[in-house]
Amino acid sequence: MRKIAIATTGGDAPGMNAAIRAITRLAEGADIKVIGVHRGYCGLIEEDFEELNPRSVSGIVNMGGTILRTVRCPEMETEEGIEKASDSLKKNGIDGIIVIGGDGSFRGAMALYKASGIPVVGVPATIDNDINGTDSTIGFDTAVNTALTAIDKIRDTATSHERVFVVEVMGRRRGFLALSVGLAAGAEVILVPEVAFTIDEVEQALEEGRKKGKHSSIIVMAEGAGDSRLLTERIAKDLNYEARLSVLGYMQRGGSPTAISRILANRFGEAAINTISREKGAKMVGIEGNTIVSRPLSYAFERPKPLDLSLYTLSKNLAV
Ligand code: F6P
Repeated sequence: MRKIAIATTGGDAPGMNAAIRAITRLAEGADIKVIGVHRGYCGLIEEDFEELNPRSVSGIVNMGGTILRTVRCPEMETEEGIEKASDSLKKNGIDGIIVIGGDGSFRGAMALYKASGIPVVGVPATIDNDINGTDSTIGFDTAVNTALTAIDKIRDTATSHERVFVVEVMGRRRGFLALSVGLAAGAEVILVPEVAFTIDEVEQALEEGRKKGKHSSIIVMAEGAGDSRLLTERIAKDLNYEARLSVLGYMQRGGSPTAISRILANRFGEAAINTISREKGAKMVGIEGNTIVSRPLSYAFERPKPLDLSLYTLSKNLAV
């Protein structure tokens, strides 16, 4: 019987529990014992463990968050912390670890592999969908739909009051969430870190809309694209429009995962068990189109994941 660990690390994402459930249940069929690590890499360093079995993960497939909990662990960015985590795996006879998380989690997994030589598999789970090597991540579809429901509600009051709303969505460095939800919501303007803009250009787009008879507008802005409060204030001041700001914030990280996020979590969990059963080294799983792939973990860092700018162009063409 082999023994593997599962850890959820970094920002949580809806669907992480579905992935924990899938990995735990499929491990039993592969004659693998599963250790759940509480609180991400900090829990690994502190040997904060829980044995998991198919009954441990009953009733969680529909739950947001992570039953293992997660923290952002600064100690895991130090040589000493990485060594402690490596020693923890070896001391407890753990011969593989599956890390469920985002970009930072994958960097920690690579460091852990280099220090320990113990196989690691990264399972992409972040609402940002900013991991190179996979078209989508666990939690992204849920966050898009959560933000979309909020923006549809905001559009009701924007229309009633003939207001401009700036809606800030999550996405610390990248605009995947903003672009997808902006397109789905029919936003008049979408602002992402990947495309430079000026406030004058935004105001010009709003003015052109007014001239075409638009009485209200929605601007979807990734938090990493700039200062949403400043933009709102400038629009109000320069154009004499009624402008309001709505920052969606952490609701985008919670909620019951959508079917798409759950199915992706199940498929990633299956691929993770297959990969850690058959291969050594540092690996990640991902999806390309509808095909699940397993590839070197280094793929996640080789280049920034490209944003599909054709969607950005489409959103501008639809906002006439
Ligand atoms: O990485 C996912 C994410 O939700 C980002 O979109 C957001 O900026 C960040 O995490 C917030 O980090 P924290 O939960 O540590 O405040």
